[in-house]
Amino acid sequence: MANAKPMTQNPVGETHSNLFRIIAIVLLALVVLVGLTILIIWLTVKPKKLVYSIDDGSIHNYNLSNANHLNATYNFILRAYNPNKKVSVYYDKVDIAVLYDDDTISRGTIDPFHQPKRNATRFKLNLASHDVSLREEVARDLKVERSSGRVEMVVNFKARIRFKVGAWKSRHYHMKVSCAPIMVHFSTSSKGFQRTICDVDI
Ligand SMILES: *[C@@H]1O[C@H](CO)[C@@H](O)[C@H](O)[C@H]1NC(C)=O
Ligand SMILES: *[C@@H]1O[C@H](CO)[C@@H](O)[C@H](O)[C@H]1NC(C)=O
Ligand SMILES: *[C@@H]1O[C@H](CO)[C@@H](O)[C@H](O)[C@H]1NC(C)=O
Repeated sequence: MANAKPMTQNPVGETHSNLFRIIAIVLLALVVLVGLTILIIWLTVKPKKLVYSIDDGSIHNYNLSNANHLNATYNFILRAYNPNKKVSVYYDKVDIAVLYDDDTISRGTIDPFHQPKRNATRFKLNLASHDVSLREEVARDLKVERSSGRVEMVVNFKARIRFKVGAWKSRHYHMKVSCAPIMVHFSTSSKGFQRTICDVDI
């Protein structure tokens, strides 16, 4: 209200000063009201983090040629959990990458879907490497790990998502999820598979 000060020198300024004071009070009240509304909405919605895990993983049809070309198929179970009671999630685009030794050996997508509130959904990811050329040292590592019956892989995915609360839909968010390390078995028997919780970055 510093700008109102010179006005108090005459009676006309006095009424102006009062007017400014009222405007200031109304503005302040509005700011507090908006703040309280946001706080109340936040407390009612209580957003919780989305949770992802890889619950199973196996490799099939593995063939690594002497020229370091890899053919294989991968079966992963991705579990997506939305713990929110008031928020549902639109997945508009999901791109998956499977990595071994920091090299991408397979890519895939999940079709767009809408995840309701308090919902857990399991996705069967059927991915493959078709004649993927590996670097010499990567192929060497893979051969060594292969002989132990399981290999350590990373499953990453990027998603474009929107949140829905009541009738309101949020803007798009880019989410990055990384699931590592995943110990993938060379057989259908997934006994002893270590479930991996993923890191989520929105
Ligand atoms: C791997 O692929 C090569 C070339 O395609 C083939 O000759 C070989 O029999 C395959 N090995 C297995 C175990 O399938
Ligand atoms: C991988 O599969 C392709 C055909 O899909 C075949 O031409 C190639 O030889 C295979 N490579 C290996 C290493 O099995
Ligand atoms: C989760 O949502 C999907 C898709 O709407 C539905 O098919 C599935 O039954 C739901 N699962 C649970 C546990 O509510």
